[in-house]
Amino acid sequence: MSVNYSEKIPNNVNLSEDKTLQRALEHWQPEFYEWWSAMGPEGSHNFDVYLRTAVSVDRDGWAQFGYVKMPDYRWGIFLNPADAGRKIHFGEHKGQPAWQEVPGEHRANLRRIIVAQGDTEPASVEQQRHLGLSAPSLYDLRNLFQVNVEEGRHLWAAVYLLQRYFGRDGREEAEALLQRRSGDADNPRILGAFNERTPDWLSFFMFTYFTDRDGKFQLCALAESGFDPLARTTQFMLTEEAHHMFVGESGVSRVIQRTSQLMKEHGVEDPARVRALGAIDLPTIQRYLNFHYSVTIDLFGSDQSSNAASFYSSGLKGRYEETKLGDDHVLKNDTYKVLELAGDRLLEKEVPALLSLNERLRDDYIKDSIGGVERWNKVIEKAGVAFRLRVPHKAFNRKIGTFAGVRVSPDGRVLPEAQWQANVREWLPSEQDRAFVASLMGRVAEPGKFAGWIAPPATGINRQPVDFQYVRFN
Ligand SMILES: [Fe+2]
Ligand SMILES: [Fe+2]
Repeated sequence: MSVNYSEKIPNNVNLSEDKTLQRALEHWQPEFYEWWSAMGPEGSHNFDVYLRTAVSVDRDGWAQFGYVKMPDYRWGIFLNPADAGRKIHFGEHKGQPAWQEVPGEHRANLRRIIVAQGDTEPASVEQQRHLGLSAPSLYDLRNLFQVNVEEGRHLWAAVYLLQRYFGRDGREEAEALLQRRSGDADNPRILGAFNERTPDWLSFFMFTYFTDRDGKFQLCALAESGFDPLARTTQFMLTEEAHHMFVGESGVSRVIQRTSQLMKEHGVEDPARVRALGAIDLPTIQRYLNFHYSVTIDLFGSDQSSNAASFYSSGLKGRYEETKLGDDHVLKNDTYKVLELAGDRLLEKEVPALLSLNERLRDDYIKDSIGGVERWNKVIEKAGVAFRLRVPHKAFNRKIGTFAGVRVSPDGRVLPEAQWQANVREWLPSEQDRAFVASLMGRVAEPGKFAGWIAPPATGINRQPVDFQYVRFN
């Protein structure tokens, strides 16, 4: 399953044997390059960046590291190898062979699922496009570009599925993926969190920790799909996704480490005095966390959803780690607990499991995201600072589902509007917070040097030293 790099579009899907598809993708390729030069990382043209490139889909040794001139990254199409006997393992088609072509009756839904996932990939590149100008180090700049090129490749993955399996509709969707723009008033990206701005590096680290993790859970659910090409595509995307979440977790961790260290060194706790030292105070970090967490958990959709039920029953989208779960994988007779607003209280209620699959995926996500927050707390604790970060209650600041428009504090109390307004400054980043964080941003471009608000990483990329020349400006 090694990747053929001698072709115009690197791939491991025997593209040269399907001339029609090859032509369609080669037609799309220059449009992708145009999009990249207009909406990809600003001012990165001709940089030599120490990047990893997928060279195979084998678990060991799938990637190769080396300098790549930025716009010359070889975006391609990689699927995990097929498992000949693979069966659909959930829903009404459970036990039947997995589909190698799109079943007619599921065509519209499958297309919709692939487009919704695919749209997030270019969206995040657009959201992050100015960050390179204010990177806190070459190491971080390299990580940003790595995330960006891989999101670009994830777009290729979606476009391959659309063009290969959905004919004319698929080609139209592939075009539309390059036309929508994050945050655009007339033609925005499909999902809310992907139209928010990512204006500074604290936002970027929070985004890659929280929002790329949403990507992980969506991809895991799609990796279970009865539509085999989708399962194999998303399985490989997950290999790349792990690094994105690492960038987020270690990034936030290094910010916290620097702040705590300065607090200890100077014996200060007051946020204004911490800011005066050029560090991001912990309450501001908490507010950023609250924002990114709440915006991200909205991405899982309504708590009860008949679409989610039908995607599952028809075998298109499974649950997180479907095969490891010990139930009947049909869920017709099962229930699941969701939260409901009862007067001014939040109460649990049992509802049909099939209807609450979005909520279940959101709950799996929440468990997973808490882990990193605990590791951040260890950094604060180790520095001897008395402060704990927490993820807010899942009803906090929601725009989608039962809690849309309901005012709930981070600790889960339902509030009247006036009380929310009186406290929101403590809970979500204000314009002043954002302006302060923005004031710290400025490119540090000397190998081994780091901006004052962030600690260096413990180790470099691919066993290179921390002061390695990760980016060469030309
Ligand atoms: Fe992605
Ligand atoms: Fe990602």
